[in-house]
Amino acid sequence: MVSAYFSSSNVSALLVFLFMMSTSMVAFGGKFYDDFYITWGPENAKMLDYGQLLTLSLNSVSGSAFESYNQYLYVKIDMQIKLVAGNSAGTVTTFYLSSTGNHHDEIDFEFLGNVTGQPYILHTNVFCQGQGNKEQQFYLWFDPTADFHTYSILWNPLNIVFLVDGIPIRQFKNLESFGIPFPKYQPMRLYSSLWNADNWATRGGLEKIDWTQAPFTASYRNFNANSDSHGAWYWKKVDYSGKGQIQWVQNNYMIYNYCTDSKRFPPGFAPECYLTNLS
Ligand SMILES: *[C@@H]1O[C@H](CO)[C@@H](O)[C@H](O)[C@H]1NC(C)=O
Repeated sequence: MVSAYFSSSNVSALLVFLFMMSTSMVAFGGKFYDDFYITWGPENAKMLDYGQLLTLSLNSVSGSAFESYNQYLYVKIDMQIKLVAGNSAGTVTTFYLSSTGNHHDEIDFEFLGNVTGQPYILHTNVFCQGQGNKEQQFYLWFDPTADFHTYSILWNPLNIVFLVDGIPIRQFKNLESFGIPFPKYQPMRLYSSLWNADNWATRGGLEKIDWTQAPFTASYRNFNANSDSHGAWYWKKVDYSGKGQIQWVQNNYMIYNYCTDSKRFPPGFAPECYLTNLS
């Protein structure tokens, strides 16, 4: 008899189990649906696995993009991304925080694709009150198309830190006491897109997109945003070992730095370039 096997304690254990299943779905499932909406190319953007995986694609008709519902004034963002594989030359995958309006602030990751076997360029920039021109570019120390890697932005009152797999690659300090603007007045949303930039991303248009390889697809998972101002991240700076890591990345993987491009900035570099050794 079935009922004989369902003592009341078994039933309540079953109910507890079912309850835990449902709460864990709420905690870990549906994240992309909860946090983002598709803003461009809906036919090329997909939320899969109950919202745990998001893919953006680019074909000859359209690219695609998403945007966060939330806006943040200071935040620690983490996203795992697997970039377009194979011949990705001319494709650009963006992942950035931005405010809106005329004098906007922005914190940028952009991934510039390449022909098969050649390295992606990771392009970074910071805009403050509409003023950018703070580019640094890097190669990566791994193949970003073979697997997911974590790309993070730490934006707090002290600094902006770009991290790859937890390794800081760039720090933009709050040097307001030296009269250098720092983004802190305008809340930002998180944006990401995959688009055709073959007129500039391949060293000024050297390589064109090979549309026979389309669709080009990038995948996203495990998004996390911490904007709780009581968290440890809120007053986190790059510590001593982090400084060593930035130095390692800059010595071995940095391929462009606005702070050393004297051709582009003949009258002198941006003021923060002369202050990089301050802690
Ligand atoms: C592509 O590969 C070439 C050759 O290795 C390299 O010079 C370039 O920086 C790479 N990245 C891009 C986006 O062009």
